Amino acid sequence: MKILLLGSGGREHALAWKISQSPKVEKLFIAPGNAGTANVGENVALKADDFDGIKAFVLENGINMVVVGPEDPLVKGIYDYFKNDAELAAIPVIGPSKQGAVLEGSKDFAKGFMQRHGIPTAAYKTFDGTTLEEGLKFLETLEAPYVLKADGLCAGKGVLILPTLEEAQKELKEMLNGMFGNASAQVVIEEFLSGIECSVFVLTDGKHYTILPEAKDYKRIGEGDTGLNTGGMGSVSPVPFADKEWMQKVEDRIIRPTVEGLAEEGIEYKGFIFFGLINVKGNPMVIEYNVRMGDPETESVMLRIKSDLVELFEGVAAGNLNEKTLEIDERSAVCVMLVSGGYPEAYKKGYPISGIDQVENSIVFHAGTALKDGEVVTNGGRVIAVSSYGKDKAEALAQSFSQAQKITFTDKYFRSDIGADL
Ligand code: AMP
Ligand code: GLY
Repeated sequence: MKILLLGSGGREHALAWKISQSPKVEKLFIAPGNAGTANVGENVALKADDFDGIKAFVLENGINMVVVGPEDPLVKGIYDYFKNDAELAAIPVIGPSKQGAVLEGSKDFAKGFMQRHGIPTAAYKTFDGTTLEEGLKFLETLEAPYVLKADGLCAGKGVLILPTLEEAQKELKEMLNGMFGNASAQVVIEEFLSGIECSVFVLTDGKHYTILPEAKDYKRIGEGDTGLNTGGMGSVSPVPFADKEWMQKVEDRIIRPTVEGLAEEGIEYKGFIFFGLINVKGNPMVIEYNVRMGDPETESVMLRIKSDLVELFEGVAAGNLNEKTLEIDERSAVCVMLVSGGYPEAYKKGYPISGIDQVENSIVFHAGTALKDGEVVTNGGRVIAVSSYGKDKAEALAQSFSQAQKITFTDKYFRSDIGADL
């Protein structure tokens, strides 16, 4: 079959790497892709949210399945665009409907959904411009630190955690005044939860689900989890505290009620669900839902899936995911992200990258790279993920760190403490 994968980051290179290993795949296209995805498929110069362009390409090239990497096309309704188009309706899209994508697209909707289905999450209230005064008063009833979340998509920047009431009240006013544009027209204020985070992923066909390997990501730029938030500096799978007992709680209290809740509410969902969880005294609680895989978690998780991912996708599309098996690699997998100096603030692009061909026994996933006159150059904040297997986390990390030294570009930076807290 012919598959079109949408997206251009490290997550998409990892998905493309895994999809391209399937004997079922005759041809893999990635739109728009990056310098790395070009090694496992053919890049197509189309934006992931150019639906009309995608339609034309899919029809011209006889594409049999579309796999969506990032949230943006999902929130914009690519699933429904295909479903409601007579020429495209028979071509499965792996990703939720527009209504399903609201789980990520609106924090207020996600919180309400969890409340309706008894799914454990922080207590909360939502405010808008007309209820600012109540919001300011509500903050007075909470204890520090204060958690403010813009309702809509903000490319990972919409959550503020404030140490004092004064700062929280000031930021609430600014958010409701358009700090994140329309995305912060509503703000969720919620109880602060303390614990270690873990990302759990499932594939669902809307009725059945398959739980994929979990992972932990490292969001802060600095060692010891300090400094600004980034898109993610590395990941580790498995996560030691996510043992059998804990994962059973996750399945019983969170995963099953979510999948059943979607079905009960008549929300079509055929794709990945990403549960951003926090372990509060042994009990999993939901911090957020995403409607796609995590980045950089995918760069570890794909290494641990032994089964044919495309066969699982076929189960998602056909609604018989329960008949497909998932075999997991027992080894550990990790990824260490090499980033541009300055990231997540201002950084330069276009520096030549050397040494990728020197890497041995690790897998290099491109995140922000481009080809310029035949040369691979930096083209983003997160540049390259170095992913490795090991008999345990320590061995996998030692392997990734040693190979990360071989890849060089001006102002390269990476965190050398990935996995050290576990
Ligand atoms: P989100 O965009 O919802 O994933 O939030 C970004 C980050 O903020 C999360 O990964 C957590 O580290 C943190 N965070 C969000 N909500 C809470 C909460 N209620 N309590 C503590 N930390 C939180
Ligand atoms: N790694 C977190 C995310 O993809 O949102």
